Amino acid sequence: MARCKIAAALTSAVLMLTAGQGEPGGDASTPRDNVVVSRALGKCHLANLFLHTTANADGLAQPVDVRQVPGMPLMFDATLDYNMPGFTVEATAVPKGSCEVGRMSTSAYMVDPGSSLVVQLFAQPLVSQNDLAPQTYSVNVSRLSGTETQLHSLKVGGAYLVPAPSASNLQATRTYRVNLNLEEDFVRIEFQKLDNGQVVAMSAGLESVVTSPARRLSFEDGISSSAGDVPSIGEAQREISTLMTTLDAGFERRVDLSVKSADGSRVEKYFLSVRRPACPQEQRFFDGDTKLCTDTCNEGFYGSTVTGRCARCLDPNCAVCEAGDACTLCLDGFELQTGGRPLASGTSKCRPRGTGSSMNALREVEDGVLSYEKKHKVLVTGASAAFLVAICACCAFLHFTSDGIRRSKRYFGDDDEDEMSQFGYHAESYRG
Ligand SMILES: *[C@@H]1O[C@H](CO)[C@@H](O)[C@H](O)[C@H]1NC(C)=O
Repeated sequence: MARCKIAAALTSAVLMLTAGQGEPGGDASTPRDNVVVSRALGKCHLANLFLHTTANADGLAQPVDVRQVPGMPLMFDATLDYNMPGFTVEATAVPKGSCEVGRMSTSAYMVDPGSSLVVQLFAQPLVSQNDLAPQTYSVNVSRLSGTETQLHSLKVGGAYLVPAPSASNLQATRTYRVNLNLEEDFVRIEFQKLDNGQVVAMSAGLESVVTSPARRLSFEDGISSSAGDVPSIGEAQREISTLMTTLDAGFERRVDLSVKSADGSRVEKYFLSVRRPACPQEQRFFDGDTKLCTDTCNEGFYGSTVTGRCARCLDPNCAVCEAGDACTLCLDGFELQTGGRPLASGTSKCRPRGTGSSMNALREVEDGVLSYEKKHKVLVTGASAAFLVAICACCAFLHFTSDGIRRSKRYFGDDDEDEMSQFGYHAESYRG
């Protein structure tokens, strides 16, 4: 990625030098003065060059990207869509007041589908400025035939593709391996159509577990050929489209992009086999919020062994669940609906506290003590037992006090005897 950025930065720097004004931070694609090639003294230069389509039925003219031909400072090319029958040219020459663009036809140039037309532009001195030399520029404008089914560009966010797609191999190469980063929950396919009239549709196959470990590639495998694709002066003609699907960690799936040609006569597909590495065994669940692998999922989530990720408990008010629907602890302010059977699958539901039964007090004690403890099961049982013991003791006490002191004494005596005999029994059994 880092190298990719450097390469992109270098490319734009080169473009700045050859086609831009050299202003620091200036964008080579800004519409003003976009084609100054060199400022050799004593010559007229083109300062900018814009192509537009002829106005369509709605009276709108669309911009057409102009690209400088690599290594040819005075040559440009542009590509019209299948349903762009013609174009107009606008250009200005510098130095202003001394040079003008000659032979500028104000009428549109028409191009047949699948053919091309070269337009020449002359940056020439005004009659009074005979110390300046003219320069001739040419623009080769070709029009797509309408049968093209290749894309102009293709990439997947947070992934490297093998082979790396480029404008030159997207026609012939239809199958790509996509290695998605573990952090990416989405397969985000970004592409530019070659022709805006193309129709692109995505279909994704079922997920399957990655069988062989994904090959860890060095960066050289991922980026390579884009150096040959010179960016246009003004990226206005082809916008970037995005199609998305999902992929769980440790899974792979086939994603197909079908491209229908602008004239509707042909459909061809790109086959992307996307795979995403699994989380390590000791942190086997992927947490979609933090984009990290973990062994403990957050409140309201559970580790799903099926998808290998932290999945949300089905009950939105559940804090801890064993599987999607088996809630064992509710969020603050909520209580489990079923009495004393928190693990009964499919039956546990959290509802607002205070609407419940006589078990309310018990639940409150539990929740207060247990807030999101991992060992909640054990503690719930413990707390329930302690509470019940307390209730029993309380009942017994009330019972005794109402029956009188003499009888209660006898009871206490009996208890003591029982305890003694129990100890005796245990001692025996340990011995035996
Ligand atoms: C113009 O471009 C088209 C398509 O790239 C190419 O086939 C043709 O040879 C070019 N014409 C000239 C004169 O360079």
